[in-house]
Amino acid sequence: MKIEGNLFVVTGGAGGIGKEVVRTIVAQKGHAVIFDLNAAFGKTVSEELGEKNAFFPGSVDCTDEAQVENALEVSLKYFEGVPLAGTIVCHGVLFPPPSLTGYGPTGMLTGYKQFEFYVKVNLLGCYLVAQKVAEKLIKNDPFNEDNERGIIITTTSISALDGTMVGYGTAKSGVAGLTLPLAKELAPHGIRVMSIAPGPFDTPILDPFPGGSPPCPFPKRIGKPHEFADLCVSIINNAMLNGSVIRLDGAFRFNDYVDNN
Ligand SMILES: NC(=O)c1ccc[n+]([C@@H]2O[C@H](COP(=O)([O-])OP(=O)(O)OC[C@H]3O[C@@H](n4cnc5c(N)ncnc54)[C@H](O)[C@@H]3O)[C@@H](O)[C@H]2O)c1
Repeated sequence: MKIEGNLFVVTGGAGGIGKEVVRTIVAQKGHAVIFDLNAAFGKTVSEELGEKNAFFPGSVDCTDEAQVENALEVSLKYFEGVPLAGTIVCHGVLFPPPSLTGYGPTGMLTGYKQFEFYVKVNLLGCYLVAQKVAEKLIKNDPFNEDNERGIIITTTSISALDGTMVGYGTAKSGVAGLTLPLAKELAPHGIRVMSIAPGPFDTPILDPFPGGSPPCPFPKRIGKPHEFADLCVSIINNAMLNGSVIRLDGAFRFNDYVDNN
């Protein structure tokens, strides 16, 4: 698959990692649609890159089926004639809103409503976009001699693979677990599915952590969003990458830093 001349839906494209994916797609002469809740930031990214390159259809909640369907239709119409080649699902939440409280003597245990929030946004929202985009991709004419019709890249987390954080980590485990079954389901249609498991990356999602994240063993820093975007480019270009989760973490292992959960 190539990026040039093709269209990609990037969820979370108004924020840290997703924004860099949008920029990279446009830099490679592709087109991007931004699905993000944040209207102000979505508009800014689109204006910065040029609305013919990066289109923001207005605020989209990736957990809302009607909003996702509508945004997809509007975007495909906007980019009529440009083939939809895939999605990079980057939206996600690390903290629940303060109104959703935990339980237990200190209130630090994961409440059901908190758990539900993580699963809804991080897992169900991921599948919702992947499924709606796949529905379009299976109708594509093949792009190349492998008969590729598109690609789906999701974002899990090393917290899923290292077994930390009940709500966030479990929802992200679902995202990781989705990769191979979905790749097999879509294989007859020429659509690949990959997932990236980042370690700590320098984006606003980490802002609430006092002092930030510890660095990776090497390189001795946290990730830069363009390094995530660069991996997306490699995945899109390499047809043999399918059905796998790739850690992108500079040898960071959560359990080296976190005692309990
Ligand atoms: N930054 C890290 O250290 C790190 C590590 C591991 C995994 N991740 C994952 O990477 C992805 C990108 O995170 P980031 O670091 O860029 O965070 P970020 O907070 O900078 O960006 C997340 C974006 O998702 C959007 N979003 C949230 N809920 C949404 C919804 N329901 N519908 C549409 N948009 C929604 C936000 O508005 C925001 O623009 C997330 O899935 C996150 O869990 C990040």
